[in-house]
Amino acid sequence: KMILYFFHERAWHRISFGIPTRSNRAELVKQENSGNLFHHKSTVSRHQMEELNQHKSFTIWLTGLSGSGKSSIAAKLDSWFYNEGIRSYVIDGDNTRIGINSDLSFSKDDRKENIRRVAEICKLFNEAGTIVIASFIAPFAEDREMAKIIIGAESFVETFIDASIETCKARDMKGLYKLAEDGKIKNFTGFDSPYDRPTNPAIHIHSDSESLDDSFMKIINHLISHKVVSVLPKVQLSHG
Ligand code: ADX
Repeated sequence: KMILYFFHERAWHRISFGIPTRSNRAELVKQENSGNLFHHKSTVSRHQMEELNQHKSFTIWLTGLSGSGKSSIAAKLDSWFYNEGIRSYVIDGDNTRIGINSDLSFSKDDRKENIRRVAEICKLFNEAGTIVIASFIAPFAEDREMAKIIIGAESFVETFIDASIETCKARDMKGLYKLAEDGKIKNFTGFDSPYDRPTNPAIHIHSDSESLDDSFMKIINHLISHKVVSVLPKVQLSHG
């Protein structure tokens, strides 16, 4: 009777309060804390930092399948910014998943948390006057939308690094497509987990048909034409 009572209570609790997922636990904590936390304004504003750096700060969000070329484009942009005296920083999915997000899996719920935390980090870097090149698969449109809201639409440059799944599979730089095919990893994007193609990205890169230099130039030209960066790239592009 007692055992039955225990299970009855647990089932009833779940019906009343829902399954304790990460997101509804987080929502409860947020409600508990609201009213007890106070936002402090920095003494040095973002605008002052932008003036000091002589460039705006924003986030170039690179989204695309694993192997689409996000990291190569991120590295090229970062080197170019550095050579031009522009402050930038690459935040990359593999690196953050080794560090701050090492507790997150590739489930839908954990991917959302991954993108939420990273978007909050991008926002902090932007507030400190630094351009962020964020390189994340970010496969779900709703999560990219959340990142845009956190970072601010005016500071969010969604850049779709578009390469077909066949190209990415053929490249398979990290051997992950093979592992997914052999059933050794689960929820692999493009394999047994979906990728929502961006419908209206600010920049659309076709990385299976364009060269790295072409993709790089397309992004820089967009930044210049939108007046977020004012220097023109030097002629020699191939050396980063
Ligand atoms: S995201 O989907 O949550 O945005 P994120 O960009 O952080 O992914 O991490 C992707 C990287 O994790 C890939 O570059 C790949 O090297 C690695 N990875 C390991 N397992 C998976 C998986 N199941 N799906 C996608 N990427 C994976």
